[in-house]
Amino acid sequence: QVIRRYPLVLLDGLPLSELLEANWEEVKRFKAFPDDLLIASYPKAGTTWLQEIVDMILNDGDVEKCRRAPIYDRIPFLETVEPKPIPSGLDQLAQMARPCVIKTHLPFHLTPKSFWEQDTKAIYIARNGKDNMVSYFYFDQMTTSQPDPGTWEEYFQKFLSGNLTWGSWYDHVKGWWDAKDKHRILYLFYEDVKQDPKREIQKVVRFLEKDLGEETLERIVHHTSFDVMKKNPMANYSIIPKSFFNTDVSQFMRKAGVIGDWKNHFTVAQNEIFDEDYRQKMAATSLKFRFE
Ligand code: PPS
Repeated sequence: QVIRRYPLVLLDGLPLSELLEANWEEVKRFKAFPDDLLIASYPKAGTTWLQEIVDMILNDGDVEKCRRAPIYDRIPFLETVEPKPIPSGLDQLAQMARPCVIKTHLPFHLTPKSFWEQDTKAIYIARNGKDNMVSYFYFDQMTTSQPDPGTWEEYFQKFLSGNLTWGSWYDHVKGWWDAKDKHRILYLFYEDVKQDPKREIQKVVRFLEKDLGEETLERIVHHTSFDVMKKNPMANYSIIPKSFFNTDVSQFMRKAGVIGDWKNHFTVAQNEIFDEDYRQKMAATSLKFRFE
């Protein structure tokens, strides 16, 4: 397949890359195992970070085992369809030993029903909408298969209207928030993991019913820190060719995992527009974000 900027199509009302249409019906019919683990997020919320944390926990903090393959081969991305080098999630899962860990960016209501029928555990990570938007803007610039993000001003509008790949950030974070009380879902925040990684990693350890010693925990904190992951080719997507991730434009591990980079991008007027829109869209939920 040639890599180009594939347009978005609506699949069950969700804007997704035209590429994903090929597997869509089969994705919905995907059969989860009770002991699989689903890692879910809106794009750029800290998915890869959480994936590395989970893989380290499941491998008892063994760094070498976690270097066995790139993160996208260790934890397949359910709904994605190649162009190579990123493989199709369903193809990978057909060959994986099960149970296994699976990544998705799907909103809760479009995740395969089987996960919830099987009572499979899921961990969701959410990031404040302002930083999430900025991170996604850079990602859409560098990812040559996703629609061109346009100018920052245009992107800002698209984010508010939810006209981006994987749809509305608001619907995503709220949908999973509501679902967490009905299913075995651990809901984490990027800002919390940044503020106190050890405490948040311990939450994941408990959720996965693992028992890890202090030294192992410290090793996981260290191995999954921004600086260490940025240097780890098995976690930082640096082995992906430039034709797919144009690293002349931006990096996958872009900023030092900071909270509040939005302040370097939002104008005062945009911030006011965002805050008002946020107030309205989040009025009926108990979900709260920290923006700095
Ligand atoms: S993706 O493509 O949706 O899977 O991207 P995702 O992994 O969700 O998000 C990428 C952003 O997460 C940052 N990141 C980290 N922050 C802190 N600590 C660690 N260890 C870490 N690993 C990845 C990454 O830098 C992207 O955020 P920005 O703000 O663009 O730097």
